[in-house]
Amino acid sequence: MTDPVELRTDRLLLRDWRDDDLDPFADLNADPVVMEYFRAPLTREESDAFADRIRTHLHEDGWGLWAVEVLGGAPFIGFVGLARQTYGPDLIPAFEVGWRLSRASWGHGYAPEAARAAIGFAFDTLGLDELVSITTTGNAKSRRVMEKVGMTYDPADDFDNPTLPPGHPMRPNVLYRLAHRNADTIV
Ligand SMILES: CC(C)(COP(=O)(O)OP(=O)(O)OC[C@H]1O[C@@H](n2cnc3c(N)ncnc32)[C@H](O)[C@@H]1OP(=O)(O)O)[C@@H](O)C(=O)NCCC(=O)NCCS
Repeated sequence: MTDPVELRTDRLLLRDWRDDDLDPFADLNADPVVMEYFRAPLTREESDAFADRIRTHLHEDGWGLWAVEVLGGAPFIGFVGLARQTYGPDLIPAFEVGWRLSRASWGHGYAPEAARAAIGFAFDTLGLDELVSITTTGNAKSRRVMEKVGMTYDPADDFDNPTLPPGHPMRPNVLYRLAHRNADTIV
């Protein structure tokens, strides 16, 4: 177990989770608009269990899906960060950058700002040479964040979620990639 690293940007603090994040996290996970591209909004129990898994990983690794706080503003707006990805084609082991923010905080560029900090940490501190990000094909907002942080999309990477039936709107997925700017120099 280790104390999670904190990351700071101009406007945001990416920090360890606190117990008082659980209420606003449950609220955003219960919001059908936030959860439009997931199977269903989460119940309170599911939200708490998810937060618990996130915190466990954060304490095991020292990095992960950080709680995001607006400096001088909202103490918790959601999470942004890194996760080991075990979903998708030919991806294991891969590391994903991901995000989920409360609706009230959308549209301020917070997700890309926090993601850039997480990406810098992944490349400069963890020494990773590639990050991916995955979403359902229709999730334009998330794809926009991927574009804003410089990730690239190749239709050849498209894949279907095998657990959903053909014709299901969330079955088609896209994958974006970002290579370390110095990837060539990493042995
Ligand atoms: C994806 C998400 C994290 C983006 O966060 P954000 O901090 O709002 O990001 P940005 O401010 O850079 O906005 C990104 C795009 O979202 C869209 N957007 C922003 N605010 C919006 C709003 N209030 N309503 C509808 N769309 C909005 C815009 O297309 C915007 O692109 P633009 O800046 O070029 O216009 C946020 O929408 C979210 O949490 N969505 C639900 C969870 C989710 O889908 N996570 C990803 C799973 S893979």
